[in-house]
Amino acid sequence: MIKTAFPDTFINELVARNDIVDVVSSYVRLGKKSGSNMFGLCPFHSEKTPSFSVSPDKQIYHCFGCGKGGGVISFIMEIENLSFPEAVAFLARRANMPLPEQENDRESKKRARMLALNRDAARFFYDQLSTPAGDKARAYMAGRGISKATATNFGLGCAPDEWSSLEKAMREKGYTDYELYDAGLIKKGKNGGYYDTFRNRLMFPVIDVRGNVIGFSGRLLDGEGPKYLNSPETLVFNKGSNLFALNLAKKSKSGYILLSEGNIDVVSLHQAGFDSAVASLGTSLTPEQARLISRYTSQVIIAYDNDGAGQKAAQRAIGILEKLDLKVKVLQMSGAKDPDEFIKLKGPEAFQMLIEGSENQVEYRLGQIAKKYDLSSDAQKVDYLKEAEDLLARLPNAAEREVYCRRVAADAGISADVLIGEVKARRSRLLKRTAAASRSSPEKQTQPVERQYRYSDPASAVAEEGVIRLLYLDPALIRRGGLPTKEAFSSPVLGHIYEVLCRRLREGLSVSADVLGGELESGEIALLVDLLQKPETLSNSAKALDDYINRIDRRRRETTEGDDLLQILEERRKELK
Ligand code: UTP
Ligand code: MN
Repeated sequence: MIKTAFPDTFINELVARNDIVDVVSSYVRLGKKSGSNMFGLCPFHSEKTPSFSVSPDKQIYHCFGCGKGGGVISFIMEIENLSFPEAVAFLARRANMPLPEQENDRESKKRARMLALNRDAARFFYDQLSTPAGDKARAYMAGRGISKATATNFGLGCAPDEWSSLEKAMREKGYTDYELYDAGLIKKGKNGGYYDTFRNRLMFPVIDVRGNVIGFSGRLLDGEGPKYLNSPETLVFNKGSNLFALNLAKKSKSGYILLSEGNIDVVSLHQAGFDSAVASLGTSLTPEQARLISRYTSQVIIAYDNDGAGQKAAQRAIGILEKLDLKVKVLQMSGAKDPDEFIKLKGPEAFQMLIEGSENQVEYRLGQIAKKYDLSSDAQKVDYLKEAEDLLARLPNAAEREVYCRRVAADAGISADVLIGEVKARRSRLLKRTAAASRSSPEKQTQPVERQYRYSDPASAVAEEGVIRLLYLDPALIRRGGLPTKEAFSSPVLGHIYEVLCRRLREGLSVSADVLGGELESGEIALLVDLLQKPETLSNSAKALDDYINRIDRRRRETTEGDDLLQILEERRKELK
């Protein structure tokens, strides 16, 4: 390494102007002092108790856990994944110090030249799309539903199925083989000649947040070879510290970054309007990538592949992201292997619902209904549709109704339009009936059929039913604070159902009507099933839950205030006796 390329006096001043505590503090939360050292959680290995120390006096860091240590320059090299000269340049920028002339010049000229070459190569690949050499790539994109506008937005291109088309074109522009080789665009053959690295591939330029083309990812169009090929590490390309499409995603107004695995997923997501999608380039998420993300957002939604590997990668990513205080949510895409397929099968609205978290509950309920019937029998299929239609008609949101109508229609093998029509008719009947019922007697319809369960306070019971319904449909709500005790319930039977439900949810047990049957009376189960049929707002279940709880509280206060008065009168009477 050419450490000596910088004069000692320069390095000394650089170190003096970059206090190690300040520098480390932007990566590690340094806690209490112990002796003259400060401690924090080591950024280089995973740990729960701090063993990473920084000495302000000695201007060094050391981790007692993993053994890493050094001064401020080696800290930056390690954490930013930079070479010595790059780390020096990084710290010089941070301290507003100009770099010594010659070094700065040589390095930055080479860098600029490589970026220019990459840009020209990207343009070459892009231009190929409108030539016969791009026929296959165009057909491939059409087959995968990638529009022309999307291709342009990403600067997608095509590496022709030839040995030297890029090399020839770049040499005509004045680049040398040496430069092409350095940039990873050509490789050395056995006989000493060069050949293009990327051939017969759909090309995805990797563009950093400043808009530089720093490398490429190429997907095989057909035939032999690895599915994806990425640029090797170069002066300007470091896979682990960049994310595909972050240049686009950083402009998104969505308020979160969508993290997926595949380049194709990212392209598909953007095309469907999810313009904050990024992917790590074939590596599992690195701490540098996480740090990069944290510059642009405080919330990350993980949409990895739906297989074991994807779920495991998601778990790892959560750990890395949460270390940086990012809010993390993982999407569960049932019925599709990745976001690309999910959007193609179920549409962007369904994906949006996944993001908002309203998908699972409806899907869960539909799944519960489907389980009861054998869809290969026509008679049962009709019953299934009747029950599903009823649920669909009660969904408050029109887009939701349409998405799930299409899903159910596809599952049952009938025309979506027919089902949508039926559900519409059923909904308007339902709305008329509810309106009429609430006009005639607002309380009558809330009363259970069985006399022994009659509610003494229907106004509170309606809210109690709501609490039970929401917990049943959206079990994650059990983790919210402020849930009432069963004593707060005015109806003993609802209180009992609520108690059993909460206990099972807290223990992580299933709560289908089937298993609850073991703990509840048959009359209680009937009541539960009945109250589950009533319409519920699932798009913001947390808020709905709070509303119900407030209503229960309010009713209790209203009724117990009366009780207090009675009690006082009673006591008075006793006193008078
Ligand atoms: P996938 O195989 O899931 O690819 O790899 P994809 O982009 O979703 O493409 P389709 O939809 O299956 O056609 C996920 C990512 O892993 C990296 C690429 O960045 C890819 O997008 N990868 C994959 C590699 O780097 N090399 C490989 O050989 C395969
Ligand atoms: Mn994939």
